[in-house]
Amino acid sequence: MYRRSLVRITSVSPTPPSSRIASRLSSLQSHFQPLQSYIAPRTPRSFPRSISTMTIPSTQKAIVVEKTGGPEVLEVRSDYPVPTPKEGQLLVKNQICGINYIDTYFRTGLYPSEKPEVLGREAVGTVVALGPGENPYNFQVGDRVAWMATSGYAEYSAVPQLKTVKVPKEISDEDVMASFLSGLTVLSFVKETYPVQKGDWVLLHAAAGGAGFLMTQILKSIGATVIGTAGGPEKVELVKSLGADYVIDYRSEEGKDWVKKVKEITNGRGVDVVYDSVGKDTWEGSLEAVKRKGTIVWFGNASGPVPPLPLPKLSPKCVKIARPTLFGYIETREEFEFYVNELFGLLKSGELKVKVHKVYPLDQVAQAHTDLESRKTTGKLLLKA
Ligand SMILES: NC(=O)c1ccc[n+]([C@@H]2O[C@H](COP(=O)([O-])OP(=O)(O)OC[C@H]3O[C@@H](n4cnc5c(N)ncnc54)[C@H](OP(=O)(O)O)[C@@H]3O)[C@@H](O)[C@H]2O)c1
Repeated sequence: MYRRSLVRITSVSPTPPSSRIASRLSSLQSHFQPLQSYIAPRTPRSFPRSISTMTIPSTQKAIVVEKTGGPEVLEVRSDYPVPTPKEGQLLVKNQICGINYIDTYFRTGLYPSEKPEVLGREAVGTVVALGPGENPYNFQVGDRVAWMATSGYAEYSAVPQLKTVKVPKEISDEDVMASFLSGLTVLSFVKETYPVQKGDWVLLHAAAGGAGFLMTQILKSIGATVIGTAGGPEKVELVKSLGADYVIDYRSEEGKDWVKKVKEITNGRGVDVVYDSVGKDTWEGSLEAVKRKGTIVWFGNASGPVPPLPLPKLSPKCVKIARPTLFGYIETREEFEFYVNELFGLLKSGELKVKVHKVYPLDQVAQAHTDLESRKTTGKLLLKA
């Protein structure tokens, strides 16, 4: 049975306030709205080269990957240089870093990246220094910020101002990291990749995971009918508790033929859209489960990458395929702030619940990766810097 105590709830609402979320997610055309007060005002001004008022050490603890491989290649170093922020950057003393499945892709080499590398694409912490040059978003030493870039598994990161925002005081470090990269992903994918409408039938794989936990709630708030898949009875109960209309345990004997179940549920029609982040193990089923003229949004490779797909496979049902990445939707400051505003609004109002699976000490990062890849986790994994 799903245990409420497992869930970090920013505030509990007995019924999801669907209409409010739906209206926040309303038309894409009107979505670049004036910023709310928690986004730093844009008063361009210059700073001296070094303005740090805090004691910044020259070395730090960081997780370094020298070569690709399993979780064992995540090396804990205590002598890693603290970076100097360059023009357009901030030096942030991290408090909590988010762990995302993409970190495993860079660790294994599925996604190429230069090594040695410090993994981690988001963190929340405090600004301790500004790089030289302009300060268009008016950051100050001492600001509590969340950022999205690279090299987050460390005590200090030099990060672009462009992808950093102040965090409102009402939102805790854990809550913002449980929903920052994952939440912006979900919000942009349901709005831009396939604009989900009230009444749409949606199949969402891995619905109990870091991104899935948030997406289930957002889809329900829009008014979609959600068929979630999840591995194991506890995950199934968790997804049901979020309001999913149907949940299939695709690892159980009964749920193995999940395509047939989806067909039954939809009276043979299939779903309007599949959000598939599992990849290798589900892609063929997703193609079967989608309706004629439907859309498949492939956005991850938790079970491995989808093999090269012969395009004629799409023609019998006139299926559309999208392969989005969050970073493509938040390239400009305006886009980034738009989705951050949406997310922070939902967190502050309590309309979006977040779930932290566990906060691991930095030293236990290998265990965190092992847990994530062994499908044992629900919600988001975090690292205490
Ligand atoms: N494109 C983008 O911009 C973007 C951004 C964020 C996330 N993503 C993708 O979204 C997905 C979710 O990311 P996340 O960080 O929130 O991870 P997560 O969902 O918390 O963890 C992955 C989940 O995938 C499921 N899974 C199915 N087959 C698996 C297998 N063979 N090995 C491991 N897991 C398997 C597991 O859930 P079950 O046990 O329930 O099957 C597992 O819990 C990932 O694929 C990630 O790459 C993409």
